[in-house]
Amino acid sequence: MRGLFPLTLVAGDPFLTLGIETSCDDTAVAVLEGPRRVLAAGLSSQVEDHAPHGGVVPELASRKHQEAILPLLHQVLDRAGIRNPARELHLVAVTSGPGLMGSLLVGVMTAKALSQAWEVPLVSVNHLEGHLFANVVAHGDLKPPFLCLIVSGGHTEILLVRAFGDYQVLGGTRDDAAGEAYDKVAKLLGLGYPGGPVVDRLAATGNPEAFPLPVPLSGSGVVEFSFSGLKTAVLWVLKRLEKDGLPVPVEDLCASFQRAAVASLLEKTRVAVEQTGVRQVALSGGVGANSALRAGLEEEGARRGWRVYLPPRDLCTDNGVMIAAAGYSSFRRGIRCDVTFAPDPSWELNA
Ligand code: KG4
Ligand code: ZN
Repeated sequence: MRGLFPLTLVAGDPFLTLGIETSCDDTAVAVLEGPRRVLAAGLSSQVEDHAPHGGVVPELASRKHQEAILPLLHQVLDRAGIRNPARELHLVAVTSGPGLMGSLLVGVMTAKALSQAWEVPLVSVNHLEGHLFANVVAHGDLKPPFLCLIVSGGHTEILLVRAFGDYQVLGGTRDDAAGEAYDKVAKLLGLGYPGGPVVDRLAATGNPEAFPLPVPLSGSGVVEFSFSGLKTAVLWVLKRLEKDGLPVPVEDLCASFQRAAVASLLEKTRVAVEQTGVRQVALSGGVGANSALRAGLEEEGARRGWRVYLPPRDLCTDNGVMIAAAGYSSFRRGIRCDVTFAPDPSWELNA
């Protein structure tokens, strides 16, 4: 289990939200004071459980969430100094989609039980809305309208945030998500799961021009992504090397793949800025931890006069803080849930 996120101090709002996230393979819990102040956050990762299988096994994920959630909850409440949750907490926020049904159910059922036992209001949070709220926690000056590039293991989307709660999905992926492509390329290269961080690290010492891999949907002028062809292009390079009896230059291949993937993400962000005229650009989702993407966005921002917002890496990958922050915002906008709502594995953020 990982420790605390750094505290961001905002004076004067004692409202306490418990955030619960179990949509995929991370069990995460956090207590947030007001919109942004993290009192405590904890995460139980299942990476080691899924690694031997080369990807997330849904059945195993839900079982591991069940084992982890209550000890993690107690630990986080304790660290937040909360002795009497029924009296001290004001809200329970939980991810109820999109994600894996069996995983979502664990968080949602736990949140419903806590909300009823403590008589504390409950709100359900869309996981993607959660991701964008990582930026709200990290940057007190971020105000809509802004664009948010959400790049995770399950999603690759650019949102126009007109106001909190008012989102337009400008475009998404036709096939694989960016993180999924990183994970699949890592698997092809025998680098284990999850692949994103390893590919990122190895790419740093490779030659990005070694293999001229195609930048997906380049020049199409639309906000749309596609990563499965790029992954297949890596596979063809591997087959050719094998046929020719040559060793695999793993770092060069990682760097070449990353160059093409990041170029696509940056190009589509440029298109979204041109389409909307909105020059505030935020990043989120697990691939938001990628060093080349972060550096590339900063460079584009400096060159083109965008204001770029990057959350700390811990807030890019799945966490409870972002869910608490999104839930707090929903609650402040008057949203309430009774206990009859069900998780929705394919809940689209298109309100
Ligand atoms: O947001 P997240 O934690 O979970 C989902 O909602 O999917 O994202 C996980 C994804 C994985 O595919 C992982 O390989 C990728 O984020 N990832 C990275 C990096 N760190 C995590 N991809 C590229 N570079 C990284 N540094
Ligand atoms: Zn996520």
